[in-house]
Amino acid sequence: MDRLKSSARLMIVSDLDHTMVDHHDPENRSILRFNALWEAKYRHDSLLVFSTGRSPTLYKQLRKEKPMLTPDITIMSVGTEITYGNAMVPDEGWVDVLNNKWDKKIVAEEASKFPELTLQSETEQRPHKASFYVKKEKAQEVMKNLSEILIKRGLDVKIIYSGGMDLDILPQGAGKGQALAYLHKRLTAEGKLPQNTLACGDSGNDAELFTIPDVHGVMVKNAQEELLQWHAENAKNNPKIIHADETCAAGIIQAIGYFKLGPNKSPRDLPDFLDSKLDHFDPAYEVVKFYLFLEMWQRAEIENSQHFIDNLKAVSSPSGVFINPFGVEQSLHDVIGKLKDCYGSKKGKQYQVWVDQVFPAQIDSDTWLVKFKKLEQIGEVQQGCYTTAILSSKDVKPSQGLTWVHVHQTWMEGSTGGNNWYL
Ligand code: GLC
Ligand code: MG
Repeated sequence: MDRLKSSARLMIVSDLDHTMVDHHDPENRSILRFNALWEAKYRHDSLLVFSTGRSPTLYKQLRKEKPMLTPDITIMSVGTEITYGNAMVPDEGWVDVLNNKWDKKIVAEEASKFPELTLQSETEQRPHKASFYVKKEKAQEVMKNLSEILIKRGLDVKIIYSGGMDLDILPQGAGKGQALAYLHKRLTAEGKLPQNTLACGDSGNDAELFTIPDVHGVMVKNAQEELLQWHAENAKNNPKIIHADETCAAGIIQAIGYFKLGPNKSPRDLPDFLDSKLDHFDPAYEVVKFYLFLEMWQRAEIENSQHFIDNLKAVSSPSGVFINPFGVEQSLHDVIGKLKDCYGSKKGKQYQVWVDQVFPAQIDSDTWLVKFKKLEQIGEVQQGCYTTAILSSKDVKPSQGLTWVHVHQTWMEGSTGGNNWYL
């Protein structure tokens, strides 16, 4: 939260499964469109918050499987765990709030008396969350009876049904909506309430997100019955909540446009983006654009034309240097020259490239130092490098684009290298 000096332009608070992440698309098209848009246009002055039902264990697993960006804030276990930054530092203040009228032992004891409830895996049982499976037709009745019993036992809980199968029992003060309200309160105290907040979800545990004041909301096209029903009963006439006609992350992008929250054209949507000309220098955009080129080039989704190689040479310094993640130093022009050999090398294969946490810093009047993570998904395997690039606007016009002067990469944890390495 300390990263931004003032209010975020936009804070996106998104659910993961079936909202940010589409489990039915192995090509991950919509999330990759979102990623490119976020890194090119929002990362530097906005906040990305993931709010998931998953425990830290299952959340980390999902990150390995899908091309997910790194959020600024992670809310896990249905709003019972809030963490900040890459290091995922827990918010201790939030935990205190949740202890009110909560006793996990009593919850477990009473729930065990319901044969309709099946316990979820051990990883999903958290200090302030007890989770079960229950059939749709039994859900309402079980929720009603269990909640009466828990009140009698002196607890104040919230029971939430999601995805037509999951039943979570949480402290009354917990949940995705309460966690968002708490974040808003903290940010307000620091004088940094975001200019706009967009909540995005698909299932029952997301409903609360749409009840927080001054929040725009999008239910993605593929939203679950229980969420649509909640909306019909409670928020039908609220113009700040829409049901998108696009699925998952594409629905989020649609909502950004609908509510006019900022740019909503992903670089991945612009057919001629490689030849597009800007009227100002934009290092984050240049980085996103270059790695999109690298993906499309290797997948042979753009023409095998010398024109692209020539353009790249034109925007890289003849004395420019690339230090690859193996520690080998090469000339930038040599590396670009060798790109010819890898045209189509990933054709027809599952192969995706994206950049994460693109942070440009202007270090003098015509030089930017851009720090980011470059990631690739090759089939089931993800690998990545911390990358630092120096880009210069010396002797060029914005329409020509910035000049790449220096690129340096270092393997990220767990990445040991692919066969061929190209920037
Ligand atoms: C995630 C969690 C699960 C929870 C569900 C709905 O799938 O892993 O424990 O019940 O979200 O909130
Ligand atoms: Mg979901």
